[in-house]
Amino acid sequence: MATIRLEKLRKEFITDDSKVVALNDVSFEVSGQEFVSVIGPSGCGKSTLLNILSGIETATSGKLEITEGERQARLGYVFQAARLLPWRTVMDNLLFVQDVRDKETRERCQRYLEMVELGHTGKQYPSQLSGGMQQRAGIARAFSTEPDLLLMDEPFSHLDAITGRSLRRELHELWTRTKKTVLFVTHDVTEAVELSTRILMFAKGGHLVEEVTMDLPFPRDATSDEVALARADIMRRFEALDLVAT
Ligand SMILES: Nc1ncnc2c1ncn2[C@@H]1O[C@H](COP(=O)(O)OP(=O)(O)OP(=O)(O)O)[C@@H](O)[C@H]1O
Ligand SMILES: [Mg+2]
Repeated sequence: MATIRLEKLRKEFITDDSKVVALNDVSFEVSGQEFVSVIGPSGCGKSTLLNILSGIETATSGKLEITEGERQARLGYVFQAARLLPWRTVMDNLLFVQDVRDKETRERCQRYLEMVELGHTGKQYPSQLSGGMQQRAGIARAFSTEPDLLLMDEPFSHLDAITGRSLRRELHELWTRTKKTVLFVTHDVTEAVELSTRILMFAKGGHLVEEVTMDLPFPRDATSDEVALARADIMRRFEALDLVAT
């Protein structure tokens, strides 16, 4: 379980003739076994936030710490598309950047494949799997390095409703069992309400505008009145912000 501390984190993308502020002095803290969703309209900086947390991008200014006790936290990243390497088998995708020859590592990877019901696919290639199966393999890969912090960027947005629902359940199970800290980007407010302990609402221009704690007990049923009410509350908050902006 990791701790993330962001203080006035700012990211500007400067091109020849324009400057885009992707993150506008964003500050927040996440620690322990939290499941925090980041929601907001397209272009509000969600992926940029995960890219900076993972080190793919660097911030323009501000402070960022990701720790696990005294040491730097280990990260896992589930991308929006599974991004499996097509020339490697499913098992070799999990073993990528791990010690291939180590028996324990192989067993751990197999265990995570089984957790997402892909235990039988280790020797297959990504092209032999459906889109949903590839996405599950991507999730198993991220968990298999046993990270302290899991970053997930809209991992279910391209899946059909039924596969999405079963993967949300699996993810909730895995999160409960493995006690990870999760930062989860989504467009889907219902999904955020169903899975999160806290929701960070972002608005255009890279502003973190509100943090909402989700007190509903788990497991949550996406079709329940409680989830519908919480969703309506968040939508109202976004609408109020839009009124302010116009
Ligand atoms: N490499 C880049 N160069 C220039 N501008 C960029 C770059 N990456 C992102 N941006 C800009 O930064 C802003 C935030 O982009 P980002 O991808 O973080 O948004 P997002 O919230 O993830 O959107 P979506 O929901 O559509 O995935 C956008 O205006 C985008 O055009
Ligand atoms: Mg994005």
